[in-house]
Amino acid sequence: MAAIPLLTPYNLGKFNLSHRIVLAPLTRSRSYGNVPQPHAAVYYSQRATDGGLLIAEATGVSNTAQGYPETPGIWTKEQVEAWRPIVDSVHKKGGIFFCQIWHVGRVSNYGFQPNGQAPISCTDKGVTPGLDGVDWSPPRRLRTDEIPPIVNDFRLAARNAMDAGFDGVEIHGANGYIIDQFMKDQVNDRTDKYGGSIENRCRFPLEIVEAVADEIGADRVGMRLSPFADYMEASDSNPEALGVYMANAVNKFNILYLHVIEPRMVKIGERYETPHSLLPMRKAFKGTLIAAGGYNRADGNKAVAENYADLVAFGRLFLANPDLPRRFELDAPLNRYNRSTFYIPDPVVGYTDYPFLEDNVPA
Ligand SMILES: Cc1cc2nc3c(=O)[nH]c(=O)nc-3n(C[C@H](O)[C@H](O)[C@H](O)COP(=O)(O)O)c2cc1C
Repeated sequence: MAAIPLLTPYNLGKFNLSHRIVLAPLTRSRSYGNVPQPHAAVYYSQRATDGGLLIAEATGVSNTAQGYPETPGIWTKEQVEAWRPIVDSVHKKGGIFFCQIWHVGRVSNYGFQPNGQAPISCTDKGVTPGLDGVDWSPPRRLRTDEIPPIVNDFRLAARNAMDAGFDGVEIHGANGYIIDQFMKDQVNDRTDKYGGSIENRCRFPLEIVEAVADEIGADRVGMRLSPFADYMEASDSNPEALGVYMANAVNKFNILYLHVIEPRMVKIGERYETPHSLLPMRKAFKGTLIAAGGYNRADGNKAVAENYADLVAFGRLFLANPDLPRRFELDAPLNRYNRSTFYIPDPVVGYTDYPFLEDNVPA
């Protein structure tokens, strides 16, 4: 029986993948006090396969990077030490593990910030308080001279990720967080060299790409983008131009992959009909393209078969099906995800207790 397209091997630079089903980065809010916990080793190793790529949940680069409860960081020695056994557990199963490095920017409030200070961003326009039920605080606009130190935080976080044993990092430039805030013209209202034209708005993101690639090698660096999304009120008036601009611009640094969220995912978890596609970015970018956003087995296979993407990342389906590659291979039924347990702090429930096929528990 011929393998389905999602289960064919792929060379991701020096990483020999045995299949094309990627674990999308998923915040699970179970890293107490911003320190990853032993239960994360169970969770990630459950989803690891020999030659499969996993992307860790968004992981803060500094003490101003957080905006959600119990999310992990990678700026302290304690956090690096805590990641190590988790990374080891994935490597023991032959998995390839990238760390998604993250700064929320204005998607935060005083309670998550050191000394209760204001969150930082390219702007002083806040996210509408009450959006998604959170009392977002008004941000403080970064001065021009404060921006290079943030770039450096990403560089240091990438170094720390290497020290923890990760195979590479994914720079989180998607979903309305700080990098996306700089890129999107509906958020960035700066008048210095980091605002205005598309070149200026992409300067901070590209400085991060360059710094991280210099630090750990471009062959270990990916970047996630969502030009079409308006998640956390970060939208752009010309998302296709923005996406293609970034795809061309990162070519200069020879990074390993771009991981792009489909235009149909304007909000996380919702699907829209749209005439847009990732093809213009696919054509512009020289490296590996990972597509994400509302994929199932059939359209994942189609994306690979038609060379629309090299790899496909699965979020909610992989969250609920630790053995997703095996289930896709067998075309087996899938467990349904339970949204109400996505972000609860429980170390087991909704986290490591989704059954494997062999458990033979009705879904
Ligand atoms: C519980 C949950 C947590 C998420 N956390 C992150 C995250 O940390 N970083 C990120 O880039 N995207 C995050 N996302 C978005 C997913 O990576 C993915 O793009 C989205 O769920 C759409 O893919 P899907 O339809 O396969 O679930 C999250 C989504 C969910 C449902």
